[in-house]
Amino acid sequence: MRIAIAILLGLAIGVIGTAMTLNALRQASAFPRGVMAVMQHHLGSLRQATRDGRCDAGDSQRRLQSLRMLAEDIAPAFPGIDDPVFRDYTVSLIRQIDVSLAAVPDDCSALEAVVSDIGSRCSACHRDYR
Ligand code: HEC
Repeated sequence: MRIAIAILLGLAIGVIGTAMTLNALRQASAFPRGVMAVMQHHLGSLRQATRDGRCDAGDSQRRLQSLRMLAEDIAPAFPGIDDPVFRDYTVSLIRQIDVSLAAVPDDCSALEAVVSDIGSRCSACHRDYR
């Protein structure tokens, strides 16, 4: 009887421990994945605008501003990655967004170029770190 209780107790502690660990992991990745998902949303919306032929400069500017703010969150979202190459990729993305914000395109072909320039900065980091 005592052994059975010990086994049950052991199992229960194991299950609770696993649940706590999984929960901690999920919370830890919520911020970085959230930052990435929202950036993806805004870049995707810009891309969709070029496909729909609706490339309003005001809309694009708002998207680019959101991307700009989110890009500032990349470093805090990945406190575990402390390396200059990762930082360079982040800075390169921010610079590219700034260039695009300095002259927000008001036609679709220019917006297409912006989407591709920014997208290539995303992919560069993903190639090494994702
Ligand atoms: C400096 C590096 C870096 C830059 C720049 C970067 N990312 Fe990421 N991204 C990552 C890393 C690292 C992951 C993997 C995160 C993980 O799985 O926890 C990731 C994951 C993602 C994901 C998958 C998220 C998930 O739920 O698994 C998406 C979508 C994404 N990035 C979009 C973007 C977009 C869009 C841009 C550009 C606007 C961008 N990223 C720029 C590093 C970067």
